[in-house]
Amino acid sequence: MSDLLDVLGEIVGAQHVLTDGDLKAQYETDWTRRFHGSSLAVVRPGDTGEVSSVIRACAEAGVPLTVQGGNTGLVGGATPAGGDVLLSLGRLTEMAEVDLLEGQVTAGAGVTLERLQQHARPHGLDVGVDLAARSAATVGGLVATNAGGLRVVRYGSMRDQLTGIEAVLADGSVVTRLAGLAKDNTGYDLTQLLAGSEGTLAVITKVRLRLVPLLPTRAVALVAVSGVPAAIELLATARAGLASLSAAELFLADGLDLVRAHGKLNAPFAEAYPAYVTLECSARTDPTDELLEVLGESEAVLDATVASDATGVARLWAYRETHTEAISAAGVPVKLDVSVPLRELAGLVDDLPGTVAGAAPGARVLIFGHLGEGNLHVNVLEAGDRSEAVSEAVLELVASRHGSISSEHGVGRAKAHYLGLSRSDAEIAAMRRIKQAMDPAGTLNPGVLLA
Ligand code: MLT
Ligand code: ZN
Repeated sequence: MSDLLDVLGEIVGAQHVLTDGDLKAQYETDWTRRFHGSSLAVVRPGDTGEVSSVIRACAEAGVPLTVQGGNTGLVGGATPAGGDVLLSLGRLTEMAEVDLLEGQVTAGAGVTLERLQQHARPHGLDVGVDLAARSAATVGGLVATNAGGLRVVRYGSMRDQLTGIEAVLADGSVVTRLAGLAKDNTGYDLTQLLAGSEGTLAVITKVRLRLVPLLPTRAVALVAVSGVPAAIELLATARAGLASLSAAELFLADGLDLVRAHGKLNAPFAEAYPAYVTLECSARTDPTDELLEVLGESEAVLDATVASDATGVARLWAYRETHTEAISAAGVPVKLDVSVPLRELAGLVDDLPGTVAGAAPGARVLIFGHLGEGNLHVNVLEAGDRSEAVSEAVLELVASRHGSISSEHGVGRAKAHYLGLSRSDAEIAAMRRIKQAMDPAGTLNPGVLLA
């Protein structure tokens, strides 16, 4: 192995091959602290050519690679399995000028979402995807996992922003489609194939994204409702009545209690309610009036507070956005990211506490998520050694309600064994054939997505 490490040092520079346990530690544990693994080395290439040479060297040595961006994933998909080389793409931080003619931008895989937003916004443009981990999550990882986030209700997921890609295949060859053509029917769409492939088919080194207009005015409403059926009723009203709707999020009473205690936040209302919806509108001209009008018309609204100044908007968003960090501060959660058709959502929320209690008596369940997509983040604390039993019970429940076992976080290592709950045997067989064709030696992210 020391031969391989020497070769890798020659490719990327010895200072970018980390073998010291303390230096590797931050790469070898995921954000949740639930997934750990040890790698032979963390290798940090500085450009596409170096990525290609690293992949070739590892393939020749028969050593697998785990690919990592900002290490903000929640399903163990970027955590080494053990004995592999961890390929960290954090140095691929090149950004091209914003292409104002096309309304697109090309960025290195290691550019954080926040940097890309800061790059686009002075030009009156913005990235269509936004999420709480924006300061650390990188665009390569966001595309590889087809991340969703807070604005999917308006702009779709990461794959919907994608117009091109540069990637290194398992044999070290480089595919480049960065012209950003709006129309291009020349056969298989490799760009879209790699979106959501979780590093199992190729290593994404650059992405080209379509940008959306930067909408300078925002209005946010935090709405108290009687439960999930009322939240869904409000969503339908907001979708129909608000052309400016840019987010529709859900959380429940116990989640609000937790984030308030964690962040020392004031109560948003004089009374407590069973469920809360965060609605955001973004537009060129102040959308507050149309938001207020829709809230006034909806019988689902028990109480509401609205803000359109930056401080007020941030204050209202904090009740939803700090769920992840508040839960993580309370313990290491089992995180399950699922979606069901909206007609199944209320039933799922009703069933979840009992299902979790059956698998892990005494565990604590916190549910929040992206109402617009029927996407719930089911977080289970204090599951002890019953984590797998909880995962299995919840994912089976979701499958029984025609849902997806991974809505936006990906499958990773955490859910690879459960893929059959959401995909048919024929689909999984087809996926395996694609994997076999593109990575016959199984060098890229083995054990991720396909167990
Ligand atoms: C979110 O919606 O806040 C993220 O997906 C993170 C999480 O699920 O914890
Ligand atoms: Zn989410």
